[in-house]
Amino acid sequence: MMKKLIAGNWKMNGNLVANELLIKGLLAGLLQPGCQVAVCVPSLYLAQIHSLLSGTAIDLGAQDVSQHEIGAYTGEIAGSMLKELGVRYAIVGHSERRQYHGETDVVVATKAQRALANGITPIVCVGESLAEREAGKTEEVVKRQLAAVIHANGHCISEVVVAYEPVWAIGTGRSATSEQAQHVHSVLRAQLRAASEHADRIKLLYGGSMNAANAKDLLAQPDIDGGLIGGAALKVQDFLTIIAAAS
Ligand code: PGA
Repeated sequence: MMKKLIAGNWKMNGNLVANELLIKGLLAGLLQPGCQVAVCVPSLYLAQIHSLLSGTAIDLGAQDVSQHEIGAYTGEIAGSMLKELGVRYAIVGHSERRQYHGETDVVVATKAQRALANGITPIVCVGESLAEREAGKTEEVVKRQLAAVIHANGHCISEVVVAYEPVWAIGTGRSATSEQAQHVHSVLRAQLRAASEHADRIKLLYGGSMNAANAKDLLAQPDIDGGLIGGAALKVQDFLTIIAAAS
């Protein structure tokens, strides 16, 4: 059976001292995890966390990657730069970036491409807003978002990780139920199967208020292959409990 992936998304949180405490706490509690584990940290701290994680069971992730290769793009960070700092995963198309930075489906798909071209696994986020769910448009929205990534990445699609993150569940304490999440995951799996014969090895993560209490149920669903964890990834014990639930 494919190992699950638990990825922490620290968002814009942390500082040098707190980061070290968090990583050391995780490493102390995580001897031989039965799943894959990653932390996606603010870019400025990639070098710090890279040195703390080297030779350990936790992989390093970034929260974004530029859609451009290199050049005059002030403030951007290229995939090749992330690779130099030991980055294995890059979140792309998180709803906070779609919402606050105007990232379109095409930009997100290009970012996924750029990550793959640099040997980095993109964690592509898709998810509907509350208004879209209430209008019965959940499937239409997530399929449109995923279709752009499939279209841009062709046969490389089997190398991506997809995270279903309903926007209304992010940071709200209101997770999707296991049934709601499994339903959307099964829709995404079917779409990936139609695009790739290797769809069954593509990891589909759930994100949105996954925590120590609800992780076990969510992770028991047949098409939920892991989690993308925000708030609970900042607390050593909660993150370890989620990792244990996935192991
Ligand atoms: P949350 O965030 O776990 O705090 O809801 C998840 C995410 O945004 O990736």
